[in-house]
Amino acid sequence: MPLVSGIDLIGQAHRDGYAIGSFNINNMEILQAVITAAELERSPVMVQTSQGAIKYAGADYLAAMVKVAAAKATVPVALHLDHGTDFEVAVRCLREGWSSLMYDGSKYPLEENIARTRKVVEIAHAVGVSVEGELGKIGGVEEHIVVSEREALFTDPAEAETFVKETGVDYLAVAIGTAHGLYKGRPDLDFPRLQAIHERVRIPIVLHGGSGVPEDQIKEAIRLGVAKINIDTELRQAFLEAVRAKLAENPDELDPRKVLGPGRDAMVERVREKMRFFGSSGRV
Ligand code: G3H
Ligand code: ZN
Repeated sequence: MPLVSGIDLIGQAHRDGYAIGSFNINNMEILQAVITAAELERSPVMVQTSQGAIKYAGADYLAAMVKVAAAKATVPVALHLDHGTDFEVAVRCLREGWSSLMYDGSKYPLEENIARTRKVVEIAHAVGVSVEGELGKIGGVEEHIVVSEREALFTDPAEAETFVKETGVDYLAVAIGTAHGLYKGRPDLDFPRLQAIHERVRIPIVLHGGSGVPEDQIKEAIRLGVAKINIDTELRQAFLEAVRAKLAENPDELDPRKVLGPGRDAMVERVREKMRFFGSSGRV
């Protein structure tokens, strides 16, 4: 089927109390792994590309691959721009057929974030594409920040209400204690804050840094309004562990398919596991 709009998938998940996994892809094998997992789990799915992935593979290549994958799939697939920071890239994605965009203006002061995000919302909504905004700063696990400073970076519920009202975003990425990359300890999400944000904005909440968040915290986050969860690092990990193992087994291998194929297979299993945690399995 053709690509579906992001809000169609995420809105449904929000209403029914589960979350859509949004998985980063940047080449054919990774895309195929995500779609195969979705088919096997009978799960709706979002594939997302960072600006880095677009730079690496080309917007036209990625759009063409994902459109073929979606057309062949028997589950709904949306294509999302992850952490877009560049207005021109957003326009390019709209032209190429992306069905969901993120504009990440989180590094700017509130008013500037609102103004920049609203500009993307206006053009995207004009062509029926939904938009994710971000408020608060989602760290990297490598950043050593003391707890009081960490909380200063978290999303403020009152600001979130203003941000959503003034930008018209369809879903909101928040900073509540997750981080990009691999966690050193156990992540500790700020659920009262999540609840306060969701009560004020009433739109689906997006959880970034989903890799390594334990199942109990994922479930509680979904109960409190999270309906899109981003996963990148854990997929790369699964893929590359299998690739490394293959190469170690046969360092003289000359056929890339014999190395990339096992990477793809390992990733399918990891994505399936996430879909079951998120409750999106069996929804199609
Ligand atoms: O935007 C992408 C993500 O937030 C993924 O985070 O690499 O920690 O899974 P992760
Ligand atoms: Zn992210």
